[in-house]
Amino acid sequence: MKIDIKLKEKSYSVFINELEKIKLDTKVAVVTNPTVSALHVDTLLKLIEARECHVITVPDGEKYKNFETLNYILEECFELRLDRKSVLIALGGGVIGDMTGFAASIYQRGIDFIQVPTTLLAQVDASVGGKTGINNKYGKNLVGTFWQPRRVYCETTFLKTLPKKEFSAGVAEIIKMAVTFDKGFFEWLEKNSLHVEENLQYAIKECIKIKADVVSQDEREEGVRAVLNYGHTFGHVIENETKYSKYLHGEAVAIGMCMANELSFTLGLLSETQLQRVKILLEQYALPVTYDVKSVESFYDMFFLDKKSFNQKIKFILAKNIGGYSIKDDIEKEVLFEVLRNFEC
Ligand code: NAD
Ligand code: GLY
Repeated sequence: MKIDIKLKEKSYSVFINELEKIKLDTKVAVVTNPTVSALHVDTLLKLIEARECHVITVPDGEKYKNFETLNYILEECFELRLDRKSVLIALGGGVIGDMTGFAASIYQRGIDFIQVPTTLLAQVDASVGGKTGINNKYGKNLVGTFWQPRRVYCETTFLKTLPKKEFSAGVAEIIKMAVTFDKGFFEWLEKNSLHVEENLQYAIKECIKIKADVVSQDEREEGVRAVLNYGHTFGHVIENETKYSKYLHGEAVAIGMCMANELSFTLGLLSETQLQRVKILLEQYALPVTYDVKSVESFYDMFFLDKKSFNQKIKFILAKNIGGYSIKDDIEKEVLFEVLRNFEC
């Protein structure tokens, strides 16, 4: 199965379970980490036909998604004498994909890269759409570029080694897309388990179709692309408050969706039944759905650190019924306090 990402420049395709060979008449470097390398790099290397093929291994973890690792990747590219026609291949989750994409976008003013995502989260979201970046002491993904991959290969076989929690974190992003963009898909998710291989393939395909449509309309997040951040405004505060150590990103997004849904409910955008249906679906994948807000004031203040906040206005992506969304940046502080108080411990 192939899904096209149609852009003004540099359109490309995402292939699902169609990776047979990667043939490139150039030098290639696969960027990965020790965890993924031990499990999957040999499989990938057997499929690559290139002038030269190298592997660049960086440490595993979000805490290494920084300038130091980026610089290491770039220096390895120079050591390997990669040229402007060379291609980087990201083999790993969103961390590897974001850093490899960033390195590719600035190495000798930009070279091609290919995404081979190995987490569910990266297959349904991070590997498609060209957002690249690293973290710094001011926050997550604050330094980066838009640089589209030349191709994306999503192979579900790589997901078989994924820890259960990481799988669920990816499911949270699947549910996120269904709630805001596709009622029929949400209803399908309620009836079909993603632990069944053919269902998983179908869900990945549906998410990539949604993302393809969104990114084709709005590559640079000037409008509808922001809807992909449903659950993230609350989720980012939770990640920040818990110092990125208690929850995986997808888990924080799951809680964030539930909190955003309380806000939707307060505003009359979502019914109690709809709110419960989202919660029940998240719980089916052992995702967390609630959070103890210690201080409503400080939780509220942290909204302003969000990249989507402008001129002291916080942008909320809200579910509107199931399968729709509403973007709001004029929610009264009192309303937000009322919602946050429901979560106060
Ligand atoms: P991750 O890349 O850290 O991977 C999670 C863990 O799973 C890591 O320890 C990794 O080594 C391991 N792993 C990867 N594949 C595996 C496999 N097949 N088997 C066993 N273990 C495997 O995390 P993630 O959830 O994939 O991605 C999160 C990152 O993605 C964040 O940095 C986030 O900012 C970014 N992101 C980017 C976008 C985008 O549009 N660019 C979108 C969403 C998230
Ligand atoms: N994951 C959000 C986006 O790609 O815009």
